[in-house]
Amino acid sequence: MKFFVDTADVQAIRELHDLGMVDGVTTNPSLILKSGRDIIEVTREICAFVEGPVSAEVVALKAEDMIAEGRKLAEIAPNIAVKVPLTWDGLKTCKVLSGEGRMVNVTLCFSANQALLAAKAGATFISPFIGRLDDINLDGLELIQDIRTIYDNYDFKTQILAASVRTVNHAKDCALLGADVMTAPPAVIKSMANHILTDKGLEQFMKDWAQTGQKIL
Ligand code: G3P
Repeated sequence: MKFFVDTADVQAIRELHDLGMVDGVTTNPSLILKSGRDIIEVTREICAFVEGPVSAEVVALKAEDMIAEGRKLAEIAPNIAVKVPLTWDGLKTCKVLSGEGRMVNVTLCFSANQALLAAKAGATFISPFIGRLDDINLDGLELIQDIRTIYDNYDFKTQILAASVRTVNHAKDCALLGADVMTAPPAVIKSMANHILTDKGLEQFMKDWAQTGQKIL
């Protein structure tokens, strides 16, 4: 499973990138707001060191305007994936931009039928939002499973990019279900390294080591 980092915080992306954990980046208008940066500038800075796809989201609502915004965002770097919402206009935009050979990430997906339409419109990535479905007592992971089944049934090439990943269990379950990509905030990716038994075991090793009176260096 590929790891995308869901942030526009350049420092946080760099830290994970140095560890080889970054296969791509996803941003959205809320994350751009959080960064306090200009969308073009910050996206260019990210694309300068991240080799994989970097999603930059359009904000227009009509296809014609979305297409123009998408083309402008795609000029930032060759690894830009234009992110469009899963609306009818977003699907039209997806069809046009993917036909021009650009990567398109169709976002705000909350149903298998939406994912089916995105695949037919030529999406490179479909972004089902797990956490936001869980928030309203629906099953986000069941959606990942359904999309996996449908895409495999018909050999769609659109990659499932599990989004709104909030917990380490979401991350593990996405991997078990065969999501192609997961995008998660840096804190979630980092907390995948944590385990209470690792901490406990290390504490005991440190105590025992101190009693040996030895040094390695
Ligand atoms: O990738 C989409 C993501 O940014 C949404 O996450 O936690 O706001 O639902 P969240």
